[in-house]
Amino acid sequence: MVYFYLESDTMLILAIETSCDETAAAVSQNGTQILSSVINSQVDIHQKFGGVVPEVASRHHIENVKSVVAEALRQAGVTLADIEAVAVTNTPGLVGALLVGVSYAKGLAFGLGIPLIPVNHIHAHICANFIEFPKLPPNFLCLVASGGHSHIIHVESYTDFREIARTRDDAAGEAYDKIARILGLGYPGGPAVAKCAESGDKNFLKLPRVKMSGSFDYSFSGVKTAVINYVHKCRQNEEEVRAADVCASFQFAVNEALCQHLVDAAKSLGIDTIALAGGVAANENLRNLAQQFAIENGMNFYSPSLPLCTDNAAMVAASGYFNAQAGIAADMSLNAAASL
Ligand code: KG4
Ligand code: ZN
Repeated sequence: MVYFYLESDTMLILAIETSCDETAAAVSQNGTQILSSVINSQVDIHQKFGGVVPEVASRHHIENVKSVVAEALRQAGVTLADIEAVAVTNTPGLVGALLVGVSYAKGLAFGLGIPLIPVNHIHAHICANFIEFPKLPPNFLCLVASGGHSHIIHVESYTDFREIARTRDDAAGEAYDKIARILGLGYPGGPAVAKCAESGDKNFLKLPRVKMSGSFDYSFSGVKTAVINYVHKCRQNEEEVRAADVCASFQFAVNEALCQHLVDAAKSLGIDTIALAGGVAANENLRNLAQQFAIENGMNFYSPSLPLCTDNAAMVAASGYFNAQAGIAADMSLNAAASL
């Protein structure tokens, strides 16, 4: 890691995100003013496999990264010569996928002679809140729920993030994806389960809520297994699988646990503001439930708009800007890491 002195507060950043199955690039001014945000999704490609195939994702990132960056520059009305720093997600994620973005960003930063700013994908998801709510001050608790993570993070400053809790097994998004798969609803599972749940009864299945003493950690494997067992039993007995009721019960169980632990953790730390981030935060039921929990507990509540919840590079630019302001940059030895 190298440290540098940021000469101006106004900074034009190019950000690159390739941690999973979205090749994304964005240009932003001062981190929170988005001039462009381009996302090339590989969902159609991975759909036929029922999930992301890491090697396939890496290959498509290689094919797409150049044109996605070019399109982000074009939409922002700038050229590479205007860019003052390159921010890139280097952890956590699929290591081969991350490497594509990291290598491309390194090449740009080296060629242009500008700082290379490493960004943690989870921090970037949290920073989506600062794009949407520039006046939101740190010192809040953020739930980051995505395909790979379910963390409760204490946001102590724009660059200090302390983990309060995490999942002991499946991430919330991963559980949504698995339930969608067993019900044959397609990939990605989250939006499909949410849609199917619309006409369902959330009290149809009594699903477990796991609470570990002395911890706000999550566990979703019990809920997932209970749903899978119900579906298998129906199929063995040649009974109808009530998909809408199953989805509504599952969604309620997962979302209630996500909100309950978040609010309990905030109370125990004396924090009065909660926020959401990550792909699962795009779930309407979760957003409404979290708002309800916040109101009932006298807390402030924030959640980014839907396009800023799922993977994008605008959030990487925001986190990159705050890192740059704190003097954090990388040299050419920057590597991709699947996890820290
Ligand atoms: O943050 P994200 O785009 O990528 C990762 O960093 O993993 O999150 C993707 C996850 C997937 O598991 C997807 O099923 C879930 O977010 N997701 C949702 C919704 N939209 C996306 N889960 C529940 N409801 C949604 N509306
Ligand atoms: Zn993500």
